[in-house]
Amino acid sequence: MEEINKEKIKHVIYTSRPTFFDNDVLDGILHTSRANNIKWDVTGSLIFHSDLYLQLLEGPTDAINKLYQKIIADSRHAEITKLRDDRTDRRLFASWTMKSDVFESWMLSRGALNELTSDDALQVFDRLARETVQFKDALGD
Ligand SMILES: Cc1cc2nc3c(=O)[nH]c(=O)nc-3n(C[C@H](O)[C@H](O)[C@H](O)COP(=O)(O)O)c2cc1C
Repeated sequence: MEEINKEKIKHVIYTSRPTFFDNDVLDGILHTSRANNIKWDVTGSLIFHSDLYLQLLEGPTDAINKLYQKIIADSRHAEITKLRDDRTDRRLFASWTMKSDVFESWMLSRGALNELTSDDALQVFDRLARETVQFKDALGD
């Protein structure tokens, strides 16, 4: 079963620069993401600053490949740099169609997100996923 999962899940992490950033732009992206991702079995997390996006996408290989092609053609951001493209046996954000939170993004200082290696980038999301679980546990969810 583990092996089957390993074949099926792909994750991609990229960073990019918003061409224009405000609440409406972000809301628009998240609205579309959540509507589409649930249909394609895609999950993930989007960290944002006014001058940076860092996104993790995870799901079936075909869905991730098609989605990534759409995302790189999107004029709402530029300078897209893929940091990681790998297979994984577990999703970090299995319960979220696209998790994104202003406080979490703000807690990760802009400096800390500069020039991430592939492993650093995965660690950022891994930590975020674990902190989210702890927070939910603390609330008794
Ligand atoms: C930073 C960023 C992240 C995005 N993330 C997603 C995503 O997770 N899922 C998604 O469907 N679209 C995402 N989009 C939007 C896509 O680029 C594209 O506009 C959308 O998939 C088109 O959906 P449609 O074919 O239903 O019109 C993102 C766009 C940006 C700029």
